[in-house]
Amino acid sequence: MANEKFFTSHNGVEIPTIGFGTWQIPNEEAYAAVTTALENGYTHIDTALAYQNEENVGKAIRDFNISREEVFITSKLPAEIKGYDATLAAFEETITNLGVDVLDLYLIHAPWPWDEVGKDCTEGNIESWKAMEKLYKDGKIRAIGVSNFSEKDIQALLDSCDIVPMVNQIPFYIGRDQASLLQFCKKHNIVVEAYSPLATGQILNSPEIKEMAAKYSVTPAQLCIRYCLEHGTLPLPKSTNKERIVENSQLAFTISPEDVQKLDAFEDVRSK
Ligand code: A2P
Repeated sequence: MANEKFFTSHNGVEIPTIGFGTWQIPNEEAYAAVTTALENGYTHIDTALAYQNEENVGKAIRDFNISREEVFITSKLPAEIKGYDATLAAFEETITNLGVDVLDLYLIHAPWPWDEVGKDCTEGNIESWKAMEKLYKDGKIRAIGVSNFSEKDIQALLDSCDIVPMVNQIPFYIGRDQASLLQFCKKHNIVVEAYSPLATGQILNSPEIKEMAAKYSVTPAQLCIRYCLEHGTLPLPKSTNKERIVENSQLAFTISPEDVQKLDAFEDVRSK
């Protein structure tokens, strides 16, 4: 695992530093993938109702020889569900799927439905957030947050709600410039989680990445994941392959500030 053990949210919840992402892992494969992750030291598992794998993610965790308190589970409110009652209902569905009483972290999956990216859903997000505040105050969730939220989207919650989000989960990888959003989150003590830290695998064949990885005697994937940590973000690498699941958690090295700067200047492979 990494040199850093935990990130701590502004309400004092410790979030294990490397999360196991399960986006695009089908329900049939999720049980084996999560079991392999747990066997290899991951204690932070990230899922979502929209991934349609919560049942097997939950079953793998429940079947594993580990106490519930030792595993940090995140799930997400589907992006198209906005509103107070609908949020409470979706949360019930998630904890039923997972087979848990309390969720560690619950996120609004996106500020807009995926088929209407950019739509202004401020009112709906505020209503959903109020429902999440209630669940948090009722002790059903240990930390609440958002995902894919811009500064403007977060500011709308800050202006109308009681609780500052504890987490914003965003796409972050070498070449993806999120400097302004990272700065904003830091100012408000919001932990930033990096999803797609390998640019969904697209960056791993870059000759420059391979060359720098060789310099540190690590793999390209390890360089990419470590890069997220150097920027103070919590990486959520995803793999269904045992060797790669292990590889992605071995991050006990650091990248020099000069090399981080070089990586910052990379082109975004996913914008091509
Ligand atoms: P696989 O599941 O077959 O290992 P991201 O985390 O950025 O979404 O990237 C996930 C993609 O990267 C998946 O296609 C995954 O494939 C692949 N991947 C994950 N870890 C590694 C690794 N260590 N080396 C090479 N490819 C990896």
